[in-house]
Parts: sequence; C-alpha cells; structure tokens
Amino acid sequence: MADVGSPEIHSGLEGVYITESSICKVDGQLGRLYYRGYSIDLLAKYSSYEEITYLLLYGKLPTGTELAEITKQLADARDLHPQIVELISTQVSQKADPMDILRTTTSALSAYDPETADMSKEANMRKAIRIISKMSSIVATIGRMNAGGTYVIPDKTLGHVANFMYMLNDKLPDQRSLDIMRDMFIVHAEHSSNASTFGTMVAGSTLADIYSAVTAGIAVLKGPLHGGADEAALKMMDAIGNPENTEKYIESALAGKQKIMGFGHRVYKAYDPRAKIIKEYLITLQPDATEQVRNYTAIALAAEKLMVDKLGQSHGIWPNVDFFAGPVYTAAGIPVLLFTPIFAASRSAGWCAHMIEYWQNNRIFRPLEKYIGPIDLEYIPIEQRK
Ligand code: CMC
Repeated sequence: MADVGSPEIHSGLEGVYITESSICKVDGQLGRLYYRGYSIDLLAKYSSYEEITYLLLYGKLPTGTELAEITKQLADARDLHPQIVELISTQVSQKADPMDILRTTTSALSAYDPETADMSKEANMRKAIRIISKMSSIVATIGRMNAGGTYVIPDKTLGHVANFMYMLNDKLPDQRSLDIMRDMFIVHAEHSSNASTFGTMVAGSTLADIYSAVTAGIAVLKGPLHGGADEAALKMMDAIGNPENTEKYIESALAGKQKIMGFGHRVYKAYDPRAKIIKEYLITLQPDATEQVRNYTAIALAAEKLMVDKLGQSHGIWPNVDFFAGPVYTAAGIPVLLFTPIFAASRSAGWCAHMIEYWQNNRIFRPLEKYIGPIDLEYIPIEQRK
C-alpha cells in the first residue's frame, strides 16, 4: 500500500484489478471479447440467450439435455406475481422512468422468493435463473403498459427472447425482429467488471442477497456514461435530424467539449467488437428498412466516419456497443424508453454470474480515500456561530 501521507489515487479505479475471474476477457488493445473463452463473434453467430446464460453461470457450453433443462427453468420462472404486475402498473401510470421502475420492481421480487435469504450457491443459482427470467418479463410489461396495454401472460413454449417480444407486443415477433433481439441480448449479456457489474459486486460483497446486488447493478447501469448511452446516442441522432447536418453537429459538440454518446471506452482502445457486430447487422437490414431506420443509419455512419477520422487512431475513441444499438432496436420496433432496461435485462446474466463467482472467495470491498479536509476543529456552540 502507498504511504498514507501521499497515496497514489487511481481516479475512476482506472487500471485497478479487483479480483480473478474466468467469466469474461475484454482485450481492449485488439478489440476482442470472450465469454468463458468463446469469442463474441462466434456466440453472436451461433448461440441463443439461454445457451449464453448457461455458459456464463456454469462456465461451459451446455449439452442438449442441459440446454433443455435451463430453457425450461427460465420459461417456468417467467410469470410475474399479480402484486408485481400491479407495482409496475402503478409506476407506469405515474410516468416513472422505466429504469426506475425496473430497479424498484426487481428489488420487490425478493419479497416473493422464499429463498431470498438462502446464501448457498445452489439457492443463488436458482435465484439467478428467476432474476434473469423475470427481469425480461418486467421490461416487456413496462413497454406493454407504456403503450396502453395490459400484462401479457408469458408463453412457456417460446424461447426467452421470443417470449420477451411476445409479452411486449402481445403478438409473436417476425423472424427479423427476433434475430435482431437475439443478437442484442447476446452482445449485452456480459462485459467483465464494468461499473454496473462492479456495483453489483460491491453490494454483494457485504453478503447482502443477490436481489440487493442486482438492484445495485441496475442503479449503476442507468447513467448516460454507462448503459444509458444507447438512448442518449439515438436522441443525438434525432437532434441531428438529417445526415447532412451531422458534421456541423459533431464539430460544434466537440468544440463545446461535449462527449459524443456511444463513443469511447475505458478499456477498448480499438473498435468495440460488439459495435462491429451491431453495425454489420444494421447494414444488412438496410434493403428492407423503413425510411426512419435508413435515416438513422445514414446519420450514424456519417458520425462514425467523422469521429473515427478525428479521434479513432489518435485518441483511441471508437464507437462502443451503444452507438449503433438505437437504429437496430428501432428496426425491431423497440421504443427508445426500453433500450437501457433491455440492456439491464440481458446483463442480468453477467451480474449474477459474477456475483456467484465472487462469493466463492468473498471479501468486502473497502477502498480508501485521501482526506484533504481540516482536522481537530474547535466545536463552537450554535448560538456563538457566525
Ligand atoms: N466523445 C468525445 N470525447 C470523448 C469521449 C466521447 N464520447 N469519450 C472520451 N472522450 C475524451 C474525453 O473528453 C477525455 O479527453 P481529455 O483527455 O482531453 O479531457 C478523454 O477522451 C478521456 O475520457 P474520459 O471520460 O476520462 O474516459 P473514461 O475512461 O473515464 O470514460 C467513457 C469512458 C465511456 C465513460 C467515456 O468515453 C464516455 O463518457 N463516453 C460517452 C458515453 C458512452 O458512450 N458510454 C457507454 C460506454 S460503453 C457501454 C458500457 O459498457 O457502459
């Protein structure tokens, strides 16, 4: 440890390793991402969200029987208690922010889980499945109710993502929207010790239960520097309006020292591989895309070129997972208010996997701060204070 008089401060914990983990490798220099050793490119191409959930929680790809088992467990856990549905409905009617509704409702799930206080690994694995399953149902229900609809009873015969789309729209998704959302759930499922995963682990390191830990993760994800950037990036594209305005908008934002949402990353100093996957997907969608999606795409590609030319190689600022997400979600008919909640629902698998792994060798997080205020001040009675 550094001398207490002149400690080295790692602002934003940059460069600080907090634990060993075998869940995820982010290679920031080469722009590569691996879940349990498998590259995200392969997983996005071949896997399903159920398989990714198994891989993250159990550390290996499932056999056919294991996949069928976890698929059934996720499907069986989907339905929401009527009081949870009521809680969502009340908050939607108060026009609460969807991330706030998701955070409050996920926290409330603990009251309906008889195993909440059981800290055994087996119970935590079971609770993880319930959390991963129910968070998607909550997000779909927030979207459904925001559109003026009512709770759609989940369909156990559907896959995880198809059921999410079904509960959101009260109808089965078309194949293209389903493919888009499967990809988005997979690329958002995990990303090592980012802010929200760390937030989850800090809460859990006190031996608070897994609902408390995941609720903390949702709170941390909300901000525009983290998960909220997908929504902020699409709002920027709306503000640009027309592809021809892109250069003027970006130049003036940068001149005003504004950050361009959906760019930059603490770890990636190369192109974020998730952004590459989403961008390629967006391009393949173009021939059948709506006017709105084509316009977003033109703005996004123009902004990407400008930013990469200006700040890519020179400053290591490249598009991240959030930049192309908005146009792709729009192509799947997802409203902007659900972008960050969907990120949270997908990431719940990573949060739970990290929490359960960390608990195997738990130590409470307790960093230090360098105190720079006064000491030993005289206590002056209130009537004598000026
Ligand atoms: N646009 C313009 N300049 C930027 C950007 C950006 N998006 N990101 C970083 N910079 C500049 C920043 O102004 C600073 O410049 P200078 O050294 O001249 O002051 C330098 O790059 C370092 O930035 P930083 O904010 O100190 O970097 P960080 O590692 O602390 O923050 C970040 C990483 C992702 C919070 C930041 O890049 C950012 O705010 N990006 C925009 C928000 C965003 O897209 N967030 C989503 C991140 S990916 C999804 C996730 O996993 O959360």
